Amino acid sequence: MSPCPLGICDGSGFLYDESTNTAYDCRCRPQLKARAKARGLSAVIPDRYRDVAFDRFPVTEIDREIVRATKRFVDHIEERLDQGRGLWFMGPVGTGKTTLAMLVTKAALDAGRSAARFSLPGLLHQIRKTFDAGGSHTDLLERLVAVDLLHIDDIGAEQTTPWVLEELYSIVNARYEERRSIVITTNILDRGTLCEQITERTVSRLTEMCDELPLLGHDHRLDVRVA
Ligand SMILES: Nc1ncnc2c1ncn2[C@@H]1O[C@H](COP(=O)(O)OP(=O)(O)O)[C@@H](O)[C@H]1O
Ligand SMILES: [Mg+2]
Ligand SMILES: [Zn+2]
Repeated sequence: MSPCPLGICDGSGFLYDESTNTAYDCRCRPQLKARAKARGLSAVIPDRYRDVAFDRFPVTEIDREIVRATKRFVDHIEERLDQGRGLWFMGPVGTGKTTLAMLVTKAALDAGRSAARFSLPGLLHQIRKTFDAGGSHTDLLERLVAVDLLHIDDIGAEQTTPWVLEELYSIVNARYEERRSIVITTNILDRGTLCEQITERTVSRLTEMCDELPLLGHDHRLDVRVA
């Protein structure tokens, strides 16, 4: 049994009132249930982003306004997840989108919430595998909805097909209906182009669920590091 995410109960999700001899729900119960439903999905922070922090490079170099908005979200991570609010980092490659999204995912994990992180191509690969395995597709979709935070990186980078668009839409729409938080990054800034890429109905739900945080500037991967 894993420990209580809030450090209140013994990890069972129940507390015991000795004076009345009754068991009652710990505040962590909804989280435990979501975690159980999301079983098998877990966010692993890749090595490159493991030490990301607000007070460290490269976050210190990213647009102050955008970093501040991200920090506000992180400071209220529990509330934001409960409200099903999300963030949408948009901008050209190498502007720090994934770095900021990782800060949010890390905050969710640190708060004891369940989180899953995928690149869109990686997520689609997982979905295709469930078809090969036969029958577990609905099961994966349920888990993708149950997880407290779903972080999808690089939406719009995938070569789209009607199948890809339909799968992406089902996930986004299911989370939309259940008011579950989503954090995404896209390198397409123009809404029209994005609608062409991933369909207007998906874009419109994402717009409603997420605060949009545009990152401008050049690709910092190409910066020459002077020692
Ligand atoms: N504003 C910035 N200033 C300096 N370096 C940055 C900045 N944003 C990102 N980087 C660096 O650029 C690389 C790409 O960052 P990443 O967050 O993966 O960008 P994106 O997801 O937008 O492509 C990383 O090596 C990161 O340290
Ligand atoms: Mg990225
Ligand atoms: Zn508990």
